[in-house]
Amino acid sequence: MRAVIHDKYGPPEVLRLEEVEQAVPLEDEVLIKIRATTVTRTDCGLRSAELFVTRFFTGLRRPKRKILGMELAGEVEAVGSAVTEFQVGDEVFGVTGSGANAEYVCVPESGPLAPKPAGMSFEEAAAVCDGASLALACLRKGDLREGRSILVYGASGSVGTAAVQLARHFGAEVTAVCNTKNLELVASLGADEVVDYTQEDFTKNGETYDVIFDAVGKQSFRRCRRSLKSGGIYIDTDPGFLWHVPVLALLTKGIGDKKVHLGIVRYTKGDVLFLKQLTDAGEYRAVIDRTYPLEEVVAATKYVETEQKTGNVVLTVSGALGP
Ligand SMILES: NC(=O)c1ccc[n+]([C@@H]2O[C@H](COP(=O)([O-])OP(=O)(O)OC[C@H]3O[C@@H](n4cnc5c(N)ncnc54)[C@H](OP(=O)(O)O)[C@@H]3O)[C@@H](O)[C@H]2O)c1
Repeated sequence: MRAVIHDKYGPPEVLRLEEVEQAVPLEDEVLIKIRATTVTRTDCGLRSAELFVTRFFTGLRRPKRKILGMELAGEVEAVGSAVTEFQVGDEVFGVTGSGANAEYVCVPESGPLAPKPAGMSFEEAAAVCDGASLALACLRKGDLREGRSILVYGASGSVGTAAVQLARHFGAEVTAVCNTKNLELVASLGADEVVDYTQEDFTKNGETYDVIFDAVGKQSFRRCRRSLKSGGIYIDTDPGFLWHVPVLALLTKGIGDKKVHLGIVRYTKGDVLFLKQLTDAGEYRAVIDRTYPLEEVVAATKYVETEQKTGNVVLTVSGALGP
């Protein structure tokens, strides 16, 4: 099969498309013929390994897993002897630890994999899980429900567009902060208020919120503290300079009435099924900025690394699209 390989850490140019041996499913695995996958900020972080600590998990000198890619949508091509939930030909979507930027990947049946939402294209389905899984992990800490308010900073990214829709689903009053060009999009996702950060500094307008969620790691607890209600929580997706966010999370556990939390993503089948339910009900959609063929993975990756994408960047495999 063809797969995007990286056998060393470095810039996007270390990625190349190569023929590799096709995986064979173990007894509890399904082999998926991938129709669409994505390039995420996590893929970029694992490939560059600029944050040295990631190498303790991915290989100190060179990557142990050579095929990147976490999100996928495709068709079941073969199943292991113990698989009961999926059959050959089923259309599925979900997440895998690595290996999705390829024509085929094996995923455990019990992993974060579910039937593809009805009527959704493979492109859209491939982009549903990553940002939304992190947003879910973060928002659960915020106890969102009717009567509670949240401000989502960086509302136009993959995590941000998911957070706005999920917070709305949970019944909270949502204020979304983004650039002028994304105001309309973010309002269409269900934000009650939108703030253009090029025109207004939300930390200085006197408004307060139960939850402030920094979806792009560009704010700080120090700046946002006064915009939190008493008992409020500041949630970040990024450990920050010198990992100060987890340190603050520990400190604020015992001191003060405003808390800090670092969201850590954990992909689960339960979350993928929950997202399927929301997409089937028309309450959630993955925002897609650009789509590239797998062959253009380097260009796609360079675009993701601008940190200016709106929502998600998809790779199509074998040029195959459609519901
Ligand atoms: N903790 C974890 O487990 C984990 C896992 C994966 C990713 N992450 C982190 O999650 C974060 C979000 O990932 P993502 O994929 O959602 O990001 P993304 O899609 O790359 O975010 C792009 C968006 O960020 C906005 N943005 C860029 N600079 C900004 C600024 N200074 N102020 C406000 N908005 C700004 C841009 O919006 P505008 O055009 O409107 O400016 C753009 O739409 C990243 O920091 C990533 O490292 C954490």
